[in-house]
Amino acid sequence: MRARAVVIMAAGMGTRMKSEKVKVLHKVAGFPLIGWCVRTALLLSAERVVLVLGHQHEKVEEFLDQTFPTAPLVYAFQAEQLGTAHAVSCAEEALRDFEGDVFILSGDVPGLTAETLEAFDAACGDADLGVMGMRLSSGGAYGRLVCDADGLQKIVEARDCTSEELKICDVNSGIYRVNARFLFAALKRFSRNNAQGEYYLTDLVAAARAEHRKVCAHLLEGEAAEELEGINDRIDLAKAEKRMQQRLKKALMRQGVTMIDPDRLYVEAQVTAGSDCLLEPDVSLRGQTHLGRGCVIGQGAIIIDSSLDEGTYIKPYSHIEGAQIGPECQVGPFARLRPGTVFERDVRVGNFVETKKSHLFEGVKAGHLSYLGDAEVGPRCNIGAGTITCNYDGHNKHPTRIGADVFIGSDSQLVAPVCVEEGAYVGAGTTVTGLVPAGALAISRTPQKNLEGWVARHKK
Ligand code: UD1
Ligand code: MG
Repeated sequence: MRARAVVIMAAGMGTRMKSEKVKVLHKVAGFPLIGWCVRTALLLSAERVVLVLGHQHEKVEEFLDQTFPTAPLVYAFQAEQLGTAHAVSCAEEALRDFEGDVFILSGDVPGLTAETLEAFDAACGDADLGVMGMRLSSGGAYGRLVCDADGLQKIVEARDCTSEELKICDVNSGIYRVNARFLFAALKRFSRNNAQGEYYLTDLVAAARAEHRKVCAHLLEGEAAEELEGINDRIDLAKAEKRMQQRLKKALMRQGVTMIDPDRLYVEAQVTAGSDCLLEPDVSLRGQTHLGRGCVIGQGAIIIDSSLDEGTYIKPYSHIEGAQIGPECQVGPFARLRPGTVFERDVRVGNFVETKKSHLFEGVKAGHLSYLGDAEVGPRCNIGAGTITCNYDGHNKHPTRIGADVFIGSDSQLVAPVCVEEGAYVGAGTTVTGLVPAGALAISRTPQKNLEGWVARHKK
């Protein structure tokens, strides 16, 4: 295989998005457009992936550095967006010593897959220039592929077309494979003598023809061509989202995940799930979420950046973020697990229970209406309904430690910092403000007194 490099053009602002945010940082399935593009590029095993950045380049670089820390990414800067040819020439420095094929992609085509690029590569054979095209029902604003009996002769931008050329339905997707040496030599001769006054990368075709080089146009049609559609505005973004959702869900279903109604489910790019998981309608799986084998996610549950071990059951309408949940747990309905929640095996947390930065060991039960924050709860503890860890004093957060086999009666408050030692009991309605030693019963409520006949007397 010849050496490969990739250049991704992503310097434009994307004004039609009508956004403060640069276009390539807008997301499809929770993952920025540029991320999708770089992911695909990395699957080509290219020596280098050069990103031509301009608008908000620091933000784009920050995202890429975090997401692809070990990838061979090189950043090139295009201060002023003078056109696609100018963008690619900004990558020349980064590819100075490179010999081989340069794949040129746009940062706003999230649907493009590596399989499609490999098929394109194979179709191009030994051509010096390959252009990936789309056969549409009408050419729209795309550049037209002008061909004769010898094949592709030139690409004409819609705004520069004659009325005859505008009728052409074979158009340029903006994806190319070019011999590096030819590319950078040719770019030096380009002019901006066209309707937009820009340096057009599409002039490569005429340049290659002038040198009698081999040119290949590879056309996709129908659904296959949709993969190449770029994003220019929010309507395109929504279309791309829809297609990506279908793709992600099909991949999960192929891995053995059941979806009762795939159309009523939202899944983000980095979600993984083991076989025999069951997803009920209106579930939303976001961020870096991993489901082990055989998890059941009930209707309306939202799970963000969390991992669930096998056999865990999330009952309907629970909200889970930044949590690590062990095997065979049961959560909800209507539970809220916040960041820093860790559950070991077989933890049961019921309706209206909220946890934050809390570690619940094996077999803990907190069935109803509780808040557990900055708490460590030992194995097999029972946390009664309405128990609250009072972890905040207005300035600082304080920890609560509960040993193994503790029973906390309903409607108790644990004023942190506080510790309830192994095997202790806390009577219902108690406000715990100090240590409860192992095996002790803590009780702080006032004794009950009954005033006989009080109601009748009072009514008179
Ligand atoms: C380009 C093609 C057109 C093709 C279409 C496919 C040219 C002249 N035209 O048009 O034939 O049908 O793509 O979508 O190439 N960019 C830079 N720096 C620049 C200009 C653009 O980085 O100076 C980036 C943009 O951010 C974008 C990509 O290049 O990611 C494409 O640029 P865009 O302006 O969208 O080109 P089109 O007009 O769509
Ligand atoms: Mg475009």
